[in-house]
Amino acid sequence: MSNTSIDSLQHEERRFPPTASFSATAVATSALYDEAKADRLAFWARQSRDLLHWHKDFTQTLDWSNAPFARWFADGELNVAYNCLDRHVLAGNGDRIAIHWEGEPGDSRDISYAELTAEVKRAANLLTKLGIGKGDRVAIYLPMIPEAVVSMLAVARVGAVHSVIFGGFSAESLRSRIDDASAKLVITADGGWRKGRVSPLKPAVDGALAKEGDLSVEHVLVVKRCDNDVEWTEGRDLWWHEEIETVDAEHEAEAFEAEQPLFILYTSGTTGKPKGILHTTGGYLTQVAFTHKNVFDLHPETDVYWCTADVGWITGHSYVVYGPLANGATQVLYEGTPDTPHPGRWWEIIQKYGVTIFYTAPTAIRSFMKLGREIPDSFDLSSLRVLGSVGEPINPEAWVWYREVIGGGSTPIVDTWWQTETGAIMISALPGVTITKPGSAQVPVPGITIEVLDEAGTPVPAGGGGLLAVTEPWPSMLRGIWGDPERFKETYWDKFAAVLDKPVYFAGDGARLDEDGDIWLLGRVDDVMNVSGHRLSTAEIESALVSHPIVAESAVVGAADETTGQAVVAFVILRSEHVEHQTPDEASALLRIHVSEQIGAIARPREIFIVAELPKTRSGKIMRRLLQDVAEGRAIGDTTTLADTSVMQIISDKLSKG
Ligand code: PRX
Repeated sequence: MSNTSIDSLQHEERRFPPTASFSATAVATSALYDEAKADRLAFWARQSRDLLHWHKDFTQTLDWSNAPFARWFADGELNVAYNCLDRHVLAGNGDRIAIHWEGEPGDSRDISYAELTAEVKRAANLLTKLGIGKGDRVAIYLPMIPEAVVSMLAVARVGAVHSVIFGGFSAESLRSRIDDASAKLVITADGGWRKGRVSPLKPAVDGALAKEGDLSVEHVLVVKRCDNDVEWTEGRDLWWHEEIETVDAEHEAEAFEAEQPLFILYTSGTTGKPKGILHTTGGYLTQVAFTHKNVFDLHPETDVYWCTADVGWITGHSYVVYGPLANGATQVLYEGTPDTPHPGRWWEIIQKYGVTIFYTAPTAIRSFMKLGREIPDSFDLSSLRVLGSVGEPINPEAWVWYREVIGGGSTPIVDTWWQTETGAIMISALPGVTITKPGSAQVPVPGITIEVLDEAGTPVPAGGGGLLAVTEPWPSMLRGIWGDPERFKETYWDKFAAVLDKPVYFAGDGARLDEDGDIWLLGRVDDVMNVSGHRLSTAEIESALVSHPIVAESAVVGAADETTGQAVVAFVILRSEHVEHQTPDEASALLRIHVSEQIGAIARPREIFIVAELPKTRSGKIMRRLLQDVAEGRAIGDTTTLADTSVMQIISDKLSKG
């Protein structure tokens, strides 16, 4: 749990009611809550029909007879790419810009809906030519370039399933994800631009595919982005720009049933192995379109929207690709880092494109706060009218700074709580409707039922704290964990199964209700940490550490960090034969690199402490709580359940000396 003081949360008295002029033209109205309350399923059925084009209408909204495996709109048929592309062109909006793409070195491209549709049609034909059809899995490992969006939509268009792997993940992580989903095709690039340099991607794919064992991959399609040298495997590797020329420009989108899988996205859980979260089409697209429109107050004719997330994360799937494009929005897509070539790059982009809706993460906001307001103040940010936050709790001070400095003191802020598993936003204020409160995500969006429960499954009263639970199925909910239905049940549904007589989804987050009944998120209650808004599992990093030959045992904790929310801190016992030969500094440097290679740079520990013992209970369980006390520089808590109570003293003495 985060150590945010609950008292200070309750004393947050600042309130920001919507202005009359904002409410007058707001997309959302309080009537949505009433409608959803009166008949939740009828509400979602109406949203789905209003927001999407169904090739074949559905007759049943929800089939929950095989809970927790949900089927939404199951006998309906649609094509996700058609909904994101063709229908906007057919409605006469082909000239509208879909994507203002900005490369890190400053190259840029404006892509209209007509152009994007044309590119996706060709790419769909190329996929068919490469033998990719309904249900086949395609791994996508690309930088933030237009081809990433084109690839995802082309895969969706032919009824295949994408698994996007964040470009910062290592060859090892890539390999395990490709294997788990038995991907037939990998789409990658020679490299991408990051921090002013070419960051190669193709070598990681080569590395992932070089390992022995059965390999499902038949081809690797490579986008030329940076012109860096790449190794080439004849017969397997193909250049995107060459292949795309060989296929037809016309492609008709076929309708698929609403429960056709759309994508798998891997996320960390409490055990070492990442979970392949499975999402399908009809329900997913309904809820991402609904929330994107209402939570961000989208007026597609006039707004310029920008979500800074990478397409490798769920936020990029739902709020860069599917939500905005289903709604016909104009958006910015930026390849690089916020501080390249100067620390005002994001603000410069907002000024350049007149961005009106901006969606980012608290970790970014906090790092800008540290740099000072002079940087954003030197750009014209007056076009902004809605600001969003996602990924971790946003502390009230960062919230207020965001509103004052970036939002000119007037923009509504929506703090959106959701997860890879939920697929779309679940808790958020609605601009123009909700009186906002800094630091609280506030209320479930219309059509979503959320409660804070105690261990016995009883809702806590206003003012109480407990576990966040979703008490009714929702359209964009995960449909399972790829290849592992048991783990799906165990992870999310078993928690309350013993105490409640209906299936209730356990989100893994702690939460508190304030006196008004607004929800405050308090962080994870399991062994998952949140670093810069990205979920990392302690177990996964621990297994990466012990896979190194010098390590005997390790324990990883998330320690509070001013900028990244939490940071990875590791405690490592070296194998006795290595203790003599390696200074702690050398060992720690070596192991930080090793974790980067095994998982990716995002998982690299901020600190590694070499210790002689780890604190364990009599049954052998590592007491991470105590290590977290050390990592956060606090007095060590209750040690009475330790098998050897002197261990913590030895660890903290050693660290204070060393
Ligand atoms: O702990 C919650 C935190 O991020 C977790 C989900 O992580 P992931 O699946 O990677 O998705 C991140 C983007 C949706 C949650 O269990 N989290 C996400 N948004 C918030 C949040 N915590 C507090 N406030 C939020 N707005």
